[in-house]
Amino acid sequence: MANIVLIGFMGTGKTSVGKKLSEILGYPMVDVDELIEQELRMSIPEIFKRFGERFFRDVEAEMIKKVSQLDRHIIATGGGSVLREENWANLRRNGVIFCLNATPEEIWRRVSGFSHRPLLNVPDPMGAIRELLRIRAPYYAKADHQIDTTGKSIDQVVEEILEILEALKGCAR
Ligand code: S3P
Repeated sequence: MANIVLIGFMGTGKTSVGKKLSEILGYPMVDVDELIEQELRMSIPEIFKRFGERFFRDVEAEMIKKVSQLDRHIIATGGGSVLREENWANLRRNGVIFCLNATPEEIWRRVSGFSHRPLLNVPDPMGAIRELLRIRAPYYAKADHQIDTTGKSIDQVVEEILEILEALKGCAR
């Protein structure tokens, strides 16, 4: 099977769900944010602060191009990677794309304890979440499959993804 790509807003569980899927399916997982931090030897907030978002998006696009060449991997992306068309073209080449969704309230509940997301380190983070979700909604809608994670455990979300993958395998037979 091809790569399994997880997209979705910050705090929708891409990394946790990806790790669990990786354990169950035996596919190695790559986390694009983590790879960027390793490559630049800098945290994401530091990259934003020193070089700005545009630079981060360029590096992100390069990294996505690289990981899209893998096969049978779980690829967890950063929440803003959906904004560039080239990322879609790369990820689609050998990937089934799942978008994880959650309500703004649930996202806020999940992310409010952390400070490593520069776009939410603003005076009105809840306003920022709503606004970014509004802008990004048409991009997230382009995924192959939509998974609502609101009120669900990691295991429940993983189960839903596995069921879809199972059905896809059936179609391929
Ligand atoms: C971002 C999401 C973050 C990270 C960066 C920008 C975004 O990743 O790439 O802070 O624009 O939504 P997560 O979605 O893994 O938090």
